[in-house]
Amino acid sequence: MADIEQVREWIAGAAGVAVLTGAGISAESGVPTFRGAGGLWNNYKAEELATPEAFARDPRLVWEWYNWRREAIAKVLPNPAHKALVRLEIDKRIFTLITQNVDGLHDRAGSGKILKLHGDIWRLRCLECGANWPDRRAPLPKLPPHCQCGGVARPNVVWFGEPLPDGMMKEAEHAVESAQVFLVIGTSANVFPAAGLIPYARHAGAKVVEINTDETPYTNLADCSLRGPAGQILPQLI
Ligand code: APR
Repeated sequence: MADIEQVREWIAGAAGVAVLTGAGISAESGVPTFRGAGGLWNNYKAEELATPEAFARDPRLVWEWYNWRREAIAKVLPNPAHKALVRLEIDKRIFTLITQNVDGLHDRAGSGKILKLHGDIWRLRCLECGANWPDRRAPLPKLPPHCQCGGVARPNVVWFGEPLPDGMMKEAEHAVESAQVFLVIGTSANVFPAAGLIPYARHAGAKVVEINTDETPYTNLADCSLRGPAGQILPQLI
C-alpha cells in the first residue's frame, strides 16, 4: 500500500506523464501475451509468422494467423487498466501513451494521444503502392487481402527486423523527456528500441514506475515496481 500511495502522489504532482504499455495490459481482456505462460511465441514461431521474409514465403499462412488474432481481439473488450489510462489522459495537461500493442484496445477504451510503435492490426498496407487503410472486418473475406491497385496487402504492423515508422522513436523520446512520471505497464522489456525508453526516462529524470505481474530486466532500475495485474493496480493509482 505504501508504494501505491507513493506512486499516487508522484502522479498527482506531475504536470506531464508518459506511459509505455505492452501485451500484459491486454491480458486481462483475454488477449494472449507473447512470452511467458500461454505466450504466443511458445506455440508459434515468430520467424515463420512475423517477419517480411515469412510473408514473402507464404502470405496466406501469415494472414491466416493475423486473421485468427483479429477475430480473437474483436471478441474482447478493454479492461479497467485501459480505462484508467483514459482518465489519466483527461486529467494531465501533458500526456502520451506509447504502446507496443497492435490490438487497438487503447483506441476502443477512448485513448487519443497514442503512439503505436509497432503499428495497428486493424490497418492494412499495400506492398505495391504503399497505401494503408483501416479494415475492421473479422474474419477477412479473402486471404491474402488486396489493395484497390491490385497489390497484395499486409498487416500494417512492424515485424521483426523492420524499422519503426519514421520519426516514431523521436516522438516517443520527446514524450518521455517532458514527463515527470513514466509508467511502464505489462511489458517484458525484451524488445528494442521500445524497451530502451525505460533507461532513457530514468536518465531524463522521470520517476519510473513498473507495473507487472513479474520481474523484468529493468525492475531494478525502476523507482517503484508494483507487482500484480494492471487491471487491479492502475484503478488504484488513478
Ligand atoms: N498485468 C501486468 N503485467 C502483465 C499481466 C497483467 N495482467 N499479464 C502479463 N503481464 C506481463 C508479463 O509478466 C510480461 O512481462 O506482461 C509482459 C508481457 O510481455 P510480452 O509477452 O513479452 O509482451 P511485450 O513486452 O509487449 O512484447 C513486446 O514483442 O512479440 C513482440 O511485437 C511484439 O509488441 C510485442 C513486443
